[in-house]
Amino acid sequence: MHHADVVIHNAGQLVTCASRGKPKLGAELQDVGIIENGSVALTGGTIAGVGRSQDIAREFKAEINIDAQRKVVTPGFVDCHTHIIYAGDRLNEFELKIKGTDYLEILNNGGGIISTVRHTREASLEELVEQSRERLDKMLAFGTTTAEVKTGYGLDTDTEMTMLKVIEELDRSHAIDLVPTFLGAHAIPPEFKENADDYVNLICGEMLPKAWEWYLTTYFFTNNTPFFADVFCEKNAFDFQQSKRILNAAKALGFGIKAHVDEFTNLGGSRLAIGLDAVSIDHLDMISDEEIQLLANSETVGIVTPTVNFNFGSSEFADARRMINSGCAIALSTDFNPGSAPCPSQPMAMAIACRYQKLLPSEALNAATVNAAFAVGLGAMTGSIEAGKHADILILDCDDYREIAYEFGGNLVRTVIKKGEIVSKQKFPSPEFNF
Ligand code: NIG
Ligand code: FE
Repeated sequence: MHHADVVIHNAGQLVTCASRGKPKLGAELQDVGIIENGSVALTGGTIAGVGRSQDIAREFKAEINIDAQRKVVTPGFVDCHTHIIYAGDRLNEFELKIKGTDYLEILNNGGGIISTVRHTREASLEELVEQSRERLDKMLAFGTTTAEVKTGYGLDTDTEMTMLKVIEELDRSHAIDLVPTFLGAHAIPPEFKENADDYVNLICGEMLPKAWEWYLTTYFFTNNTPFFADVFCEKNAFDFQQSKRILNAAKALGFGIKAHVDEFTNLGGSRLAIGLDAVSIDHLDMISDEEIQLLANSETVGIVTPTVNFNFGSSEFADARRMINSGCAIALSTDFNPGSAPCPSQPMAMAIACRYQKLLPSEALNAATVNAAFAVGLGAMTGSIEAGKHADILILDCDDYREIAYEFGGNLVRTVIKKGEIVSKQKFPSPEFNF
């Protein structure tokens, strides 16, 4: 008999999303690894045992027992693409878009990302920490236990470095584990509008080396959390050659590679990033059939962000169905940001992916958990309920996991456990479950 700190027992469905050490591809995405009447034992923040309740009861004696009868237990969500460090809002732009103005046109006229840059440059580190913490609190309540977070609203060396420090402070003081991404190449700042190549020089010659120096001093580095560099390869942002220079410079320093590609325009960014062994390529609305094949034959994960299309009121979405059928590893994110996706909820992203991208609830759940963990380089640590991984676990108030994507606009997540600790609780309707 082993000792455990906590056993969650008798789950109606224990949904493991177990993946045998790699992202799920093709038909594997339809298997969420359900154990009916399952239990999971947690020790020292780690998963010690997973199995049928009668087997776990024989193997583990726990100090705390949590009854999950008629409940669904899943891995915590991994939100693999977010931009939650910013000041200000984009409410005026929301109305402009409703009236028909185009997102890239707003950006080109000094609005959009650039308007958030203005507010973010004016904010102090403390203000950014407090405002961004509230966004993390919302994400946690919706079940996110790990999140990738990008810079990219500073676009000058000082503010970009401040954003990195905000990510570091929030990782230290908030339950959600963060993965930092440097996105100095998010937009061309107004002071470089007429000479974008000089901004690319600044990114390659000063910003990336400084950011890497910072990383080496952080807990992220000592803890083996990767540090990524990203670029918005898009019309009115960074063209193919500029993106190539930035990603090559980042790779030479040691960064993992991510790229915003094919969101509105295909500039060849997918091929470029896959060729650089990117950990993920993100958005993929305009990806070509040939590039889908390249993605399928690579180790790169394709991250889709259907919240953006939903937010734009669009009926066109990245063809995730085709990508899965072609054998690509697909992950799902909220892309939480003030402009294109003000959405803290991975279940909402799943709900949209099922309806508009024709993913099954099983595929959406794997994409928002285990595949998303691989998309941020943490597939060995989190994203599924498997022995040895972090005890990042949700208890949901439903008896069939498909309800997570079926319901929208609500929140079925009742208990969030991060590294073995209960970090968020909402009341169950029936009092017997309010442990
Ligand atoms: O992923 N596409 C570029 N970046 C974000 C949007 C950021 C913003 O509009 O503030 C995205 O959609
Ligand atoms: Fe993004």
